[in-house]
Amino acid sequence: MPLVTSKKMLEDAYKGNYAIGAFNINNMEILQGVVQAAKAEKAPLILQVSAGARRYASPIYLRKLVEAAVEDSNLPICLHLDHGDSFELCKESIDSGFTSVMIDASHHSFAENIKITRNVVQYAHDRGVVVEAELGRLAGIEDDVNVSDKDAAFTDPDQVQEFVAKTGVDSLAIAIGTSHGAFKFKGEPKLRFDILQEVEKRLPNFPIVLHGASSVPQYLVEQINQYGGNMPGAKGVPEDMLRKAASMAVCKINIDSDIRMAVTATIRKYFAENPSHFDPRQYLGPARSAVEKLVRHKIVNVLGCNGKA
Ligand code: G3H
Ligand code: 13P
Ligand code: ZN
Repeated sequence: MPLVTSKKMLEDAYKGNYAIGAFNINNMEILQGVVQAAKAEKAPLILQVSAGARRYASPIYLRKLVEAAVEDSNLPICLHLDHGDSFELCKESIDSGFTSVMIDASHHSFAENIKITRNVVQYAHDRGVVVEAELGRLAGIEDDVNVSDKDAAFTDPDQVQEFVAKTGVDSLAIAIGTSHGAFKFKGEPKLRFDILQEVEKRLPNFPIVLHGASSVPQYLVEQINQYGGNMPGAKGVPEDMLRKAASMAVCKINIDSDIRMAVTATIRKYFAENPSHFDPRQYLGPARSAVEKLVRHKIVNVLGCNGKA
């Protein structure tokens, strides 16, 4: 099966009250762990590549790895550009075979966000590619965008209809209290489900995307800290909140930090227990298995997309 867009995946997820996992990939072991999990659970999959991933692994290596995953898995896989920050980057990704792009112009004014997003949508739709955009600003750190807590802004539900109508975008990322990275909440986790509900009312049957949706599992925080790491107070979005979001209009849930932590926790423990080992396969193999275990858990217990491929 060739790469697919996320159009049908997200439509089915909306109707079925579940969500598709969008997992960030940065190297072969992460990709293999994610794809093995989706294969085992017969889950549709969105693999996403950030600007940072492109810089780290180079676009051609990532693309060829994804091609291998498509051939090996026979699953419906969508290849998505995560947080594209310009028309040019989106165009380059579309031209090189991505089936979905995110144009993240959320740090611009509303009017400018519409203008930039509409240009990307026109280019993408002419070539059969779908587009995700963002309204509102998440706090947290990505490689190219660092939004401090004070600059973060919840999505204004009064803007969503106009934004979608004027841009023709296929899905919309909204800010309801999640943030990127492993330190999402200082106190009790809280998401603005009231905003999600208002957005859902104004955009019936329209797929919503949740960024910054890692759960930061405490067993991984403990393992990292136990074996020489230093992540005190790391906290993510509780799984029951993600399940609730998936049962509402949220159809795509983005996960990166949890994967990073699964890899790091495994390698830290491995090095502590096997100080004489130096073959990367000895510790990257278990790291890959840890990613697979984590993603299988997400697919079955959080996203609910198992068996939907
Ligand atoms: O949304 C951000 C993703 O976690 C990607 O992070 O830009 O460090 O690759 P990155
Ligand atoms: P996390 O940092 O919560 O994994 O979010 C990832 C993300 O939103 C990628 O776009
Ligand atoms: Zn994101």
